[in-house]
Amino acid sequence: MDDMLFDGVEITDDILMELAKELLPRSYAPYSHVNVGAALLTKGKKVYFGCNVENASYGATMCAERAAIYTAIAQGDRDFEAIAITGIKNGDLGEPFYPCGMCLQVMKEFCDDDFKIIVEEGMNNVTYTLKDLLPKGFSL
Ligand code: THU
Repeated sequence: MDDMLFDGVEITDDILMELAKELLPRSYAPYSHVNVGAALLTKGKKVYFGCNVENASYGATMCAERAAIYTAIAQGDRDFEAIAITGIKNGDLGEPFYPCGMCLQVMKEFCDDDFKIIVEEGMNNVTYTLKDLLPKGFSL
């Protein structure tokens, strides 16, 4: 998926999650076998995508969320509204993938407290805010 502009179309949380799932086949995760996809909605109604990209030197791994955020920033977009995150672990969909601490810190750099983070909990998509998941985050 290339980044997409949804002009005049409402991107619901559920639609954003469906878009995130499109990224799962692109995830490169030969070490953890955990595939993660993310769809990032800007306030200008553009959606950017990311997937996790692992490395034999494990620390060089990039998470799906940061991949999406950095892609958007490289395209000149920094006003973010929401991100949907999906993952497959041991072949199971529906397990919640909450952003890791490093991704939350990157969100803290660019997003407001009410930035929406949509995750799957079983069959349901549940929406949190950045403030919910990082109540006392660090910033300068
Ligand atoms: N991962 C993400 O892409 N996002 C998260 O929020 C959590 C973890 C990836 C990193 C690694 O490739 C795999 O999941 C297992 O940690």
